[in-house]
Amino acid sequence: MSGILKSSIARKVVMALSGLFLVLFLLQHFLINFTSVFSATTFNEVSHFMGSNFFVQFLLQPILILGVIIHFVLGFVLEYNNRKARVKKYVRFNGSANSTWMSRNMIWTGLVVLAFLVLHFYDFWFPEIIHKYIQVHPEDPTRYYGETVAKFTDPVRTLLYVISFIFLSLHLLHGFSSSFQSVGWHEKFYKGMRGATVAFSILIPLGFIFIAVYHYFNQV
Ligand code: HEM
Repeated sequence: MSGILKSSIARKVVMALSGLFLVLFLLQHFLINFTSVFSATTFNEVSHFMGSNFFVQFLLQPILILGVIIHFVLGFVLEYNNRKARVKKYVRFNGSANSTWMSRNMIWTGLVVLAFLVLHFYDFWFPEIIHKYIQVHPEDPTRYYGETVAKFTDPVRTLLYVISFIFLSLHLLHGFSSSFQSVGWHEKFYKGMRGATVAFSILIPLGFIFIAVYHYFNQV
């Protein structure tokens, strides 16, 4: 780990790989949550499987949490080093002339996503861990739908989620496509993928917004 922290190329590659891994998580998370819009039964079944499967709980879940931690710790290190380099080398650096707003503000859009994750873990992850592993309630495979949609009766929380998903989209718009560059994929391939990464970065957060807003209006 200390080697990764010292080498800037290794840091960029690990940042990109952890980001791509989180993109995959986001896709499966979206697909599972989207089932809650059209079938409470399907959502309960899938959530129960994910919440009780040994492999998911004790292998994939820790890997995911580690992926999130690595991504945001390295993000801070990268930002710190970029700022240091910019002060030294580009005294007259004119950001907007050669980069996008998204690429220059990854740390801020990332921080909003991180703040969202704190709220999101408070809403879902901690209650789930307490329910299962501390209070050790008996299994109830039908509880997930009600517990999830109950969070979207609160208009402030729903709005905070919607705002966070807009920042997630801005973060992905730069991060997803640039991760292909960082892992060294051929320029032709990277450029060919650009449309797909932009579509993903807009459509998935829009889909999350739809889920939150749908459950809010479904309960007013
Ligand atoms: C409307 C949108 C969303 C809904 C309804 C939702 C719902 C949930 C639920 C119910 C859980 C608990 C799973 C469990 O542990 O049993 C969860 C966990 C989690 N969510 Fe979301 N989520 C949404 C959006 C997001 C987004 C956009 C992100 C990432 C930026 C995210 C990241 C996570 C993470 C990292 C966990 C912990 C994963 C785990 O260990 O299970 N979620 N979410």
